[in-house]
Amino acid sequence: MFTLGITLLGLAAASPALAMNVSNVLIYSYTAGFRHDSIPTAVAEMTRRGPDYGINFVNTEDMTMLTDEYFSQFDAMLLLSNTDEVFDAQARVAFQNYLDNGGNVVGVHAATDCMLNFTTMERTLGTQFAYHPEFTNATMIVADPSHPSTAGLPPRWRVQDEIYNFNHDPRALGAVVVLTADETSYVDTGDRSPAQGSPHPIAWYQERLKGSNSTGPVGRSWYTGLGHAAAAWKDDVFMGHIFGGITYVLASNTTRAMNPSATVGSLGPSYTPPPPAPTTTLDSPNSSAVRVLGGLSLIGSILVSSCLLVLHMA
Ligand SMILES: *[C@@H]1O[C@H](CO)[C@@H](O)[C@H](O)[C@H]1NC(C)=O
Ligand SMILES: *[C@@H]1O[C@H](CO)[C@@H](O)[C@H](O)[C@H]1NC(C)=O
Ligand SMILES: *[C@@H]1O[C@H](CO)[C@@H](O)[C@H](O)[C@H]1NC(C)=O
Ligand SMILES: *[C@@H]1O[C@H](CO)[C@@H](O)[C@H](O)[C@H]1NC(C)=O
Ligand SMILES: *[C@@H]1O[C@H](CO)[C@@H](O)[C@H](O)[C@H]1NC(C)=O
Repeated sequence: MFTLGITLLGLAAASPALAMNVSNVLIYSYTAGFRHDSIPTAVAEMTRRGPDYGINFVNTEDMTMLTDEYFSQFDAMLLLSNTDEVFDAQARVAFQNYLDNGGNVVGVHAATDCMLNFTTMERTLGTQFAYHPEFTNATMIVADPSHPSTAGLPPRWRVQDEIYNFNHDPRALGAVVVLTADETSYVDTGDRSPAQGSPHPIAWYQERLKGSNSTGPVGRSWYTGLGHAAAAWKDDVFMGHIFGGITYVLASNTTRAMNPSATVGSLGPSYTPPPPAPTTTLDSPNSSAVRVLGGLSLIGSILVSSCLLVLHMA
């Protein structure tokens, strides 16, 4: 048994950072069912790159943290490959209130496979996961190159990933599909439901996410079915896809990052978020414990971003 400690300290120079509004994004990565090994890499890589985009990422896997007060600090919530029942009754109410107050949401990969009987989740992400064929090489087709999440992609993008099938067509909820799968480029012997819609949706956005009950300002959502393997999260092209989606939702005018009169989100450049709660996760199947602490504070005119990643490997 050995312990490996890695400390990443990123210092962003004050000049470009101060010109940007700092957005707070909550990465929620709790899994009640299947757990993706890529989660720690995804959290570490988003946190490391965040300062380049004026984003402070906070990560938790503690559903008891999900209260109105906690949500109110965040310009967006990123649901990272969550599975099964990851919200208790309090978290459901707080999530609904967050959406009703203009909160923005990003969903990645297995996020469509959590909270399957919570209608608000399906309406927010646009659909639910059905099944996937084996991890494979496949070709994605950019359906809308004008979107920030696809602008940096080649028109036909080769990926190595799990190509999800879904139960419903997100276009039926008004989502705009920006990336589709070329179904001739890989093998899927499963029983694909036509309800998924065609062309095969992989990534999409909602300008006004449908999970909110508000008739006032409503935030944006963006979802991608990609992101299964840790290697993707080390790939600059894939990370451009992810950050394009995140920056798209953050540019809504429904949170404090862009709109001082909004009722949720960071308080712009002067805001110093509280330190995040540390989270500990048992990572199956090799039972390595992963602890990720992410934090950022604005001190005078210096923006300091730090991320501490400690891996205990059994
Ligand atoms: C549906 O929700 C109930 C109550 O939260 C939960 O006990 C049950 O496991 C959920 N079922 C599924 C299939 O997610
Ligand atoms: C809010 O909207 C969801 C669907 O998105 C619905 O299931 C729920 O009943 C609504 N809640 C209220 C309080 O209107
Ligand atoms: C699948 O993609 C990976 C990563 O790009 C590459 O290394 C591998 O050679 C590809 N395999 C096939 C059969 O094309
Ligand atoms: C926010 O943007 C939407 C369109 O995206 C617009 O309809 C709305 O008036 C804007 N609200 C504010 C407060 O600027
Ligand atoms: C920063 O936020 C303010 C509102 O608080 C907004 O007017 C401005 O456009 C934002 N700046 C950038 C660079 O996003």
